[in-house]
Amino acid sequence: MKEQHADVAVVGSGLIGCSIAWHLARKGVRTLVLEANSVGSGASFAGAGMLGAQVEMHEPGPLFELGLSSRAMFRNFCEELREQTGIDPEYVPEGIVRLASSPEEAEELQNRGKWQRERGLQAEWWTPEDVQALLGIQAESCTGALYLPDDHRVEAPRLARALARGALLQGARIREGEPVLDIAEEGDGVTVTGVRDVYRADRVVVAAGAWSSLLLRRFSWSGRVFPVKGEGVVLQATLLPLRRTAFARDVYLVPKNDGRLYLGATEQPGDWSSEPSLEAVSGLMDRARRRIPDLGPYPIAEIRVGLRPVTPDGFPYLGPLPGHPRIWIAAGHARNGILMAPATGRLIAEWMTGGTPSPLLEAFTPARSAPAKREPA
Ligand code: GLY
Repeated sequence: MKEQHADVAVVGSGLIGCSIAWHLARKGVRTLVLEANSVGSGASFAGAGMLGAQVEMHEPGPLFELGLSSRAMFRNFCEELREQTGIDPEYVPEGIVRLASSPEEAEELQNRGKWQRERGLQAEWWTPEDVQALLGIQAESCTGALYLPDDHRVEAPRLARALARGALLQGARIREGEPVLDIAEEGDGVTVTGVRDVYRADRVVVAAGAWSSLLLRRFSWSGRVFPVKGEGVVLQATLLPLRRTAFARDVYLVPKNDGRLYLGATEQPGDWSSEPSLEAVSGLMDRARRRIPDLGPYPIAEIRVGLRPVTPDGFPYLGPLPGHPRIWIAAGHARNGILMAPATGRLIAEWMTGGTPSPLLEAFTPARSAPAKREPA
């Protein structure tokens, strides 16, 4: 084993880890990213790519505000990455249609539209006839819809590849096939022990999705991140005239630029498995066909599986662990990791290099969990 040094070691090369690395490296910080498998193997590559700052949020508050600020960065973020790397993340500024399936759900969505408009955002109510005319498909059992024109979309695997390459081009190093076994404070720095090498860094940021709190066991911190497995089915549906993302309570359909259609997604809390199951995927396809009966003949191009990193209170942990200023975490974005990647990367990098956190991050402090009464591992 040889020892290697960095200013900041980032554990995890998904969208969150690579966004932090990209921003840090641009500021001249020597950044090393450690990836257990390969770039492209985690949840970032399984996502549908909806930038659902409005559609995925049920109430105003800090998560809603972080999502809005990240969404506002997306167009430039994608453009800059495309110019720098040659990889187009396929940012498409078309909105999301949130379908209601009962009078009660229609009322709930109309209320959601109201508080979002009061916050100065766009949210239009569509009748079932509007849905058919404006969405381009007949959505069965639709009782109306909330149209959110500013919730756009990207192609998540392309964005994740662009960010990883962007981080490299900015000078970050990425080591694949290097699962981290231990993280320890030693002297005036941190030692990160991987399977192959031992690394020294001034600070570490754990951005390892659902595995993040497991890697921080020795720090007597009571925060917890657990997986909610999601499976998505990608159809080759070039001839389906679906123009915008359609999002219902139990299934969503996201069109892609090349004619594919992403059907998402299952939700299985606590399931660490990485293979799609017949039961979960067939249930998802049944729900999609109940909404849009015409889907039947289209071929399946791909099935994607990812583990959403979820926390007990639904907020990500962003910042240093209480009492451990060199040990940072950026994980637990649950259903919103793709949306939150630009703001998370920028705000964490600014905090690490400037010393003061943005007020946008206040609610996400890892210190909100009381330290656990347990011995260091
Ligand atoms: N954001 C969509 C999902 O997690 O399924």
